[in-house]
Amino acid sequence: MFALTILPLLLSAVSAVPNRAGGCDLSGATISLPSNQTLLVTPSHDPSYIAVAIGTQNYTCGSTGTYTNVSAVAELFDASCLYGTPEFASLQELAYTVWKLAPPAVPISEVIQFLQPFHASFVLGQHFFVTSPSGTGISPRWDFSSAALVGHPDAYVIAARAGDIPAPTGSPDVDWLGLNEVEGNLATQVFRVNTVGGLPPAFGFLWCTAGSPPIAVKYASMYCKRLLVPSRYSCLLNCSGLFGSSVQ
Ligand SMILES: *[C@@H]1O[C@H](CO)[C@@H](O)[C@H](O)[C@H]1NC(C)=O
Ligand SMILES: *[C@@H]1O[C@H](CO)[C@@H](O)[C@H](O)[C@H]1NC(C)=O
Ligand SMILES: *[C@@H]1O[C@H](CO)[C@@H](O)[C@H](O)[C@H]1NC(C)=O
Ligand SMILES: *[C@@H]1O[C@H](CO)[C@@H](O)[C@H](O)[C@H]1NC(C)=O
Repeated sequence: MFALTILPLLLSAVSAVPNRAGGCDLSGATISLPSNQTLLVTPSHDPSYIAVAIGTQNYTCGSTGTYTNVSAVAELFDASCLYGTPEFASLQELAYTVWKLAPPAVPISEVIQFLQPFHASFVLGQHFFVTSPSGTGISPRWDFSSAALVGHPDAYVIAARAGDIPAPTGSPDVDWLGLNEVEGNLATQVFRVNTVGGLPPAFGFLWCTAGSPPIAVKYASMYCKRLLVPSRYSCLLNCSGLFGSSVQ
């Protein structure tokens, strides 16, 4: 079964760091953005989380025969304890390779289900799309309330795009993004960086066959999240005491 093979690979990257169970200190951690761009603002605070994600970017083929991005779904794994290690730089490629090797019949939901026992120490949560808080359109949501922050229903963020640059690695890697919080208490800013995959075949040049079924393109990326006010969700390793006193 696929999930039995993905897990040791992902865990072996993670277990390179002793006693890794989330919540590692990210003081001084920076996001490496291309120097010649201005559309993604450099975060002025340290991230609270760095996650590596695997999932799909979903597209439909419109009547004009071009792909339209319609949604995405991803599972986020804690990478904060790997920051500063040699493994960190290639984490998204590792995750992508493993995920891409999975047979197409293996849905992300199976990966998620298989990883349930590792919640709270390894799986942070999920990324998916919801109806926008305004009631019109859809917005991306990152939600840790099902995994690392069970019992904290406000541990999510719905965000709006603030900046967007093509992946420095080029197609077929999906854009790097900066997003600002619209709703939720998980983070005030989210960055999607170090992307691998996610764009449809020959995105931007070739046409799809109008009426062909929707496609889901596998991708991996890093998501960095930061809180303006540190503390609330900055502890991931057994925070029951902290939450008991600091969250209503
Ligand atoms: C930044 O540099 C890269 C690599 O030289 C180039 O592909 C990209 O177009 C540049 N971006 C901007 C905004 O100038
Ligand atoms: C699709 O792309 C547009 C333009 O880049 C962006 O505004 C929108 O948020 C994207 N939608 C999804 C579901 O990713
Ligand atoms: C996106 O694609 C994945 C993988 O096929 C699927 O599980 C998910 O339901 C799709 N989501 C949407 C909103 O279409
Ligand atoms: C977390 O703390 C609670 C309360 O102190 C304790 O019962 C539980 O075993 C701890 N869990 C872990 C994974 O250490």
